[in-house]
Amino acid sequence: MRVLGLETTCDETAAAVVSLSDDGRGHIRSDEILSQIAEHAAYGGVVPEIAARAHVEVIDRLVERAMDNAGLALSELDGIAAAAGPGLIGGVIVGLTTAKALALVTGKPLIAVNHLEAHALTARLTDGIAFPYLLLLASGGHTQLVAVRGVGDYVRLGATIDDAIGEAFDKVAKLLGLPYPGGPEVEREALKGDPERFALPRPLLGRPAPDFSLSGLKTALRIEAERIAPLSERDVSDLCAGFQAAVVDTVVDRTRVALRAFRETAGHPTALVAAGGVAANQTLRRALERLARESGLRLVAPPLRLCGDNGAMIAWAGIERLRLGLVDDLSAPARARWPL
Ligand code: KG4
Ligand code: ZN
Repeated sequence: MRVLGLETTCDETAAAVVSLSDDGRGHIRSDEILSQIAEHAAYGGVVPEIAARAHVEVIDRLVERAMDNAGLALSELDGIAAAAGPGLIGGVIVGLTTAKALALVTGKPLIAVNHLEAHALTARLTDGIAFPYLLLLASGGHTQLVAVRGVGDYVRLGATIDDAIGEAFDKVAKLLGLPYPGGPEVEREALKGDPERFALPRPLLGRPAPDFSLSGLKTALRIEAERIAPLSERDVSDLCAGFQAAVVDTVVDRTRVALRAFRETAGHPTALVAAGGVAANQTLRRALERLARESGLRLVAPPLRLCGDNGAMIAWAGIERLRLGLVDDLSAPARARWPL
């Protein structure tokens, strides 16, 4: 089974081919990605109209490259998958419409994939883990803890009540004059800084429901930054280190609570899985590794290239759905909002 996957929900245009071998494991045959970061950087964030136009400009070429690098003709595919949401609607329409056109001309089934589901299932592509597992999904648009019990069977245990974690990283970066996207920049600065110089809050620590709140932390950081302005390089590094440490403590505490809730509702998880762009953060990974170990679990975090948005995760989610007969017809809608 071979599926082409298209991803256009935010600021990456991506196309990839993934195949399924007889032992049930996925193999990435090609994985093409073009980031629009340079086009959005001047605005300090993603501009939806610019994103949609940029997807249109490159998607054909990217599909061609994904097929060439996989050494396959379109007729050799078993399905065409695209992220049908949630995301910036202009971009989603570009990817989904392209997939519909390809499905129509090749006569292959269309699989309209939920972008969050694709992040959630990536660990099965990279590590072949079995259901059920606890997923921490942390990206620029989403932060949630989910019991993944099967394809299409997700129980949300907790979520952010305000900003997503990636969004908070991006806003803090902007506040401190660091470029977009902020996550990697804040992480780099934090490496040089003293995480204990500023006493920043750990929102919702110890609360019984595994939810997140980032806006109070962000405000506390802004107040500190304004108090000591103008900021030296050292100040920026220390603020980044303090912020990252507060986020990591919060995530570990919230995930620990979610593990407890998981065991009460879904049994024993096979693994703790970290997904989404924020899972690229090395300090967070190490902290989650410790938590997993003390809970008798394995931490599964996709390689950095597969943490952020990519085509392989869409193709893989397409395979997971296709092999269960979960296909869509050409009326599948593009959705700006689509909860897991
Ligand atoms: O999953 P993703 O590529 O796109 C969305 O669906 O949002 O996640 C992007 C987000 C951005 O907010 C980015 O700042 C954050 O993930 N991010 C990080 C790191 N790398 C990316 N946050 C913290 N540390 C990082 N190393
Ligand atoms: Zn994403």
